[in-house]
Amino acid sequence: MMSKHLELTQVGIDFPTPKGAFTALQEVNLRINKGEFISLIGHSGCGKSTVLNIVAGLLNATRGGVILDGAEVTQPGPERAVVFQNHSLLPWLSVYKNVELAVKQTLRGKPKKQIREWVMHNLELVHMTHASDKLPAEISGGMKQRVGIARALAMEPKVLLMDEPFGALDALTRAHLQDSVMEIHAQLGNTVIMITHDVDEAVLLSDRIVMMTNGPAATVGEVLPIELARPRDRLALADNPTYNHYRHQVLTFLYEKQKKIEPVNAKQTAANKACSAKGKKIDAA
Ligand SMILES: Nc1ncnc2c1ncn2[C@@H]1O[C@H](COP(=O)(O)OP(=O)(O)OP(=O)(O)O)[C@@H](O)[C@H]1O
Ligand SMILES: [Mg+2]
Repeated sequence: MMSKHLELTQVGIDFPTPKGAFTALQEVNLRINKGEFISLIGHSGCGKSTVLNIVAGLLNATRGGVILDGAEVTQPGPERAVVFQNHSLLPWLSVYKNVELAVKQTLRGKPKKQIREWVMHNLELVHMTHASDKLPAEISGGMKQRVGIARALAMEPKVLLMDEPFGALDALTRAHLQDSVMEIHAQLGNTVIMITHDVDEAVLLSDRIVMMTNGPAATVGEVLPIELARPRDRLALADNPTYNHYRHQVLTFLYEKQKKIEPVNAKQTAANKACSAKGKKIDAA
């Protein structure tokens, strides 16, 4: 069998807790081709970020492992850039300097002019050159997210890992950034793993959607290939029956097959405790 670009084999992880080991993931298997766009979807707390962090090398699997182009992943590396949900820009550095810092890791020792051009090129990809001298505090949340994406892209990673990259954005900014990410992916052809809670976003962007079961011991439940031609147009797809069929399959997985009763929020729980002796029962459920 041909070996794949990125392979997760029998990945499991246990976290130490005061009550003993907690098995978050078990037997996660995934083969990803070069240039594939993969979405990870699943209920809150199932283990999506944990999978991403293992691929990033930020966490080590307890069992199994990850192989990228024939080499085992044991630590973070510039060929696997991460876009964190909370954009994590350095607040004391300008937009330009934030991206430059990452570029200097991969273009170490290269002429200043070349570094400058590369930083500006990547800011251009996300339409942020106009704000290159601003500090993170001076730009909007969506703009910060775009700089985070530019910073990751500037490292020319083989694999781009994005943890709910558009989660905190308004619908319009989100749509605009999804389109930019699709364009950039088409241009650069790098492998992408993106975590999302948004079913439309997953179908629109992905080549395959990996649906995870609920934890503990979460694993890959179903994998749905999305065979829609690219470039994809959100308006045209809105009443495309194939698109809606895919949407329906993901929704069925999340809300029927892996149905999850979310615990009531803290306020309600407290109220239940106060007015009902059954409060304890509810908490334990
Ligand atoms: N360092 C840790 N120590 C103990 N438990 C952990 C640790 N990190 C994660 N967990 C647990 O592992 C499970 C998976 O967490 P993870 O953050 O991967 O979920 P997620 O799918 O990304 O959730 P969300 O959608 O809410 O971001 C959760 O039950 C979480 O409490
Ligand atoms: Mg998460």
